[in-house]
Parts: sequence; structure tokens; C-alpha cells
Amino acid sequence: MQTPAETSSSGTRRNFLKRTSAVAAGLAAAPYILVSPRAFAANSETLKVGLVGCGGRGTGAASQTLHADRNVVLHAMGDIFEDRLKGSFEQIKKEHGERTMVTPDTSFLGFDAIDKVIGSGVDVVILATPPGFRPYHIKRCVEAGKHVFTEKPMATDGPGVRMVLEAAAKAKEKKLALTSGFCWRYNPAERQIMQRIHDGQIGTPLALQNTYNTGSLWVRQRQPGWSDMTYHLRNWYYYTWLSGDHIAEQAVHSLDKMQWAMKDEPPVKCIAHGGRQVRTGSDFGHIYDHFSVVYEYASGARGYHACRQQANCASDNSDYFMGTKGAATIKAFGSLFITGENPWRLRSREGIPNMYQVEHDEMYASIRRGEPINDGVWMAHSTLVAIMGRMAAYTGQEISWEQALNSQENLAKWVTKQEGVAGDPSFDWNMSLRTPEVAMPGLTKFV
Ligand SMILES: NC(=O)c1ccc[n+]([C@@H]2O[C@H](COP(=O)([O-])OP(=O)(O)OC[C@H]3O[C@@H](n4cnc5c(N)ncnc54)[C@H](O)[C@@H]3O)[C@@H](O)[C@H]2O)c1
Repeated sequence: MQTPAETSSSGTRRNFLKRTSAVAAGLAAAPYILVSPRAFAANSETLKVGLVGCGGRGTGAASQTLHADRNVVLHAMGDIFEDRLKGSFEQIKKEHGERTMVTPDTSFLGFDAIDKVIGSGVDVVILATPPGFRPYHIKRCVEAGKHVFTEKPMATDGPGVRMVLEAAAKAKEKKLALTSGFCWRYNPAERQIMQRIHDGQIGTPLALQNTYNTGSLWVRQRQPGWSDMTYHLRNWYYYTWLSGDHIAEQAVHSLDKMQWAMKDEPPVKCIAHGGRQVRTGSDFGHIYDHFSVVYEYASGARGYHACRQQANCASDNSDYFMGTKGAATIKAFGSLFITGENPWRLRSREGIPNMYQVEHDEMYASIRRGEPINDGVWMAHSTLVAIMGRMAAYTGQEISWEQALNSQENLAKWVTKQEGVAGDPSFDWNMSLRTPEVAMPGLTKFV
């Protein structure tokens, strides 16, 4: 595999390791390389974890994993960028010391880092790359018999969702954990209100409204010498093949709560509006900055979703569930209450465990019990709900669940002109990429 100057194959990895140990030597006895004399005593119950995608969320997830179970060690790390792996390692090491047992031999850079991490002898893999890589990464982990904690969303297109569904079925057969980063499902506060909705306390759901409106996000300017691939990967948020667009990358949390309230019944179809008003420059790739989608369920219930990423506008992240007997409201990180025939209110969120921690606590407890959590089907379906909304907005057409599920639109294949979904380790840094255009409703075709 060819590598750009700023990233590496194993040759450059050695340089990184040399540099890293040199830095570390000034602080302590090269903690990156040497296992300290007080090292954690591994035993037959020890679960070795590999982290693939060492960015903000991956670093957090690895830390939560180490807090979740005293007999877990971080054994391997993989990324495509040296600076990300190094920064993540240092942060985790600082917090968890001797249980960060990653060595030069278990640090991997490149598109094949996923396979190298899997091959390093881990029991559990944390997947936290941009979502375009997720389907292939989940598939590889399950094939290799690894338990998985995977960040959301699970894919960026129909072929990716289908790959995840297949892997989820295999994970079930093999009794492997497939735990998702749809964190609200692990929040004890949200679980209380959802239980009440499921118990019928708002009656039959008729209308579900959810909003994920935020300001603008980070942008990484293209640097001299960057190949197309490097630029896309540094600025992954702005390319649909990697992020799924912001409805799938961020607002999917709201759509997941809508699906949760509907007991994971897929919507039959949707229509949508969307576009980009403030993200006009090429720095923003080709994604939209606002979407509005109306989903229709078989019962006639409708889901109304809106999301926006525009600076200096009102932010809001709320969910409203209106039924025949009442209404439930969730203000993200705020109040939760039900009005109508069965009024209820969560007194306070104080003391409620951190949902990001609960995900990992429950995953390890399930592995230890021999009944590993498998979130596979619903996590793939919630992802598809977002993708279907995007498809409807991009094309301007009504899109059915069946169409979205069977879509032949393979975004990575189109961009890279290569067979396979994103995550295929045969990708290389210098392949010429197609630049996707901004989708235009009425002109962009459903594929
Ligand atoms: N559950 C949540 O609340 C939550 C919050 C933030 C992010 N996330 C999700 O976590 C994922 C990562 O987001 P982030 O904010 O940490 O992004 P990030 O850019 O900080 O991290 C992504 C990392 O993956 C690496 N990477 C990219 N392609 C790779 C590949 N093929 N193999 C190995 N490493 C690769 C990048 O170099 C980077 O270090 C996204 O899917 C995002 O939606 C979830």
C-alpha cells in the first residue's frame, strides 16, 4: 500500500514509535514500550481490547471500556493517521496507566489496521472510525469471532446496511456481542420514559416529532501535498460516502429515539426536503446543512424530523411523542415528562449513570454472563431510517423502506471506482477519487 508523507505504513510506524518512546523517555521509563514492573497481571479471564479509529469518540470509548471491567486491558490500537493514534494512546495511558498495554507490535497504521488489530489476539474490538468504514469493519470482526462495540451510525448506504444485517445474524449464531453506540438506548432516564411509552401510557403513538438543530462544525483546510484520499479522510464529515451526511452522522440519534418509541417498526416510506444554504464552499465537501423529513408508519403514525447545522440559529435537540392518551417529551440532557391521562416527570437527571459508561458496563456484563448483547438489527434499521431520509431529500422523491433497504447505491464504490464498500483494505492513499457533487432534488436519481 502506498502512503502519503503524513501517514504511514509499518516503516513510518517504526519512526513514530521511536519518536514516541523518545518523548516518553523524558517523562518516565518509556511507558509506550515497556510494561511497568507493577503491570496488570493478565489471567485467563482477561479480555484484550483493540481500538480501531483513535479519534475523539474512540478515545472516550476505550477509556469507558477500561472503567467497565477491571479485568480488561487495551491491547492494540489502529488508525490511518499517526497523530491520531499517538494522541489517543497518550490520553488513555495517562488515565489508565498499566492497563494500556499497547506496544509497538500492537499499534497499526493504514487501511488494513482493522485486520492487524483483529490478528493481534484481541477478544473485543471497539469501532470508532468514520461510519463509511463500519460495515466492512463489523463484518471482519464477526468473521474473526470478536466481540464488538461499534459507534453509530452503522453505515452510509444501503449495501452497507445489508452487510451489517448479515454480520448481526452471524454474531448471534456465534454468540458474539454487537453493542451499539446509540447511547440514548443505554441512558437509564430515557429508558424510563420509553418503558412508559411502550406500556401504553400515551396510548397509540400518532405523531413523533424530533429536532436536532446545532451550529456549524469543524472544517479541515486542504494542505499542500495531501492526496484526495487524505483530504477526504481528514475532512470526512463533509463527504457522504464517509459520514452519511449529518442526518445520518448526528441526527440519527433523534431518529433512533423515534424508532425506539415505535418498538423498532420500520417506517413504510418518507418524503423530505433539504439543501445547503450556508455550506456553500468546497471546504464543506458536498453535504447538506439542513433536512426535514416526514416518515409514515403502517399504522398511519407519522414521524416529523428536522435537523440543521447552521451558525447563529436556534439550537434544539428534543423529541415529542404524541399519542391517543397523552404526550411524552424528551429534552436531550434536560427534562423528561408525560402529560395527559398518565402524567409523569423525571424528578432530576442527577445521579443517573453516564450513558456512555453504561454501554460498556452492560456489554462486559453480558459477555461475562455468556449472553452477549446483540443490538444488530435495530441499530442497522435506525441507520437506514436516516439514510432513507437523506435519499428522499437528495432525490426529491418519495422513498419506501424497501427501496432504501434494497438500494444499489454503493457510495464508496462510486467515489473510489473500486469494488467493495468503504473499509476495503485495498484502498490506497493515492487512488484518484471522484468528487461528488451536491445532490439536486429533481435531478439526482435514486439508485
Ligand atoms: N455516540 C455518540 O454520541 C458519538 C459522539 C461522537 C462521535 N460518534 C461517532 O464516532 C465515530 C467517530 O467520530 P469522532 O468524532 O471520534 O471522529 P474523529 O475524526 O475524531 O475520529 C475518527 C478516527 O478514525 C480514524 N480513521 C479513519 N478512517 C480509518 C480507517 N479506515 N481505519 C482506522 N482508523 C480510521 C481517523 O484517523 C480518526 O482518528 C463517528 O461514527 C461518529 O458518528 C458518536
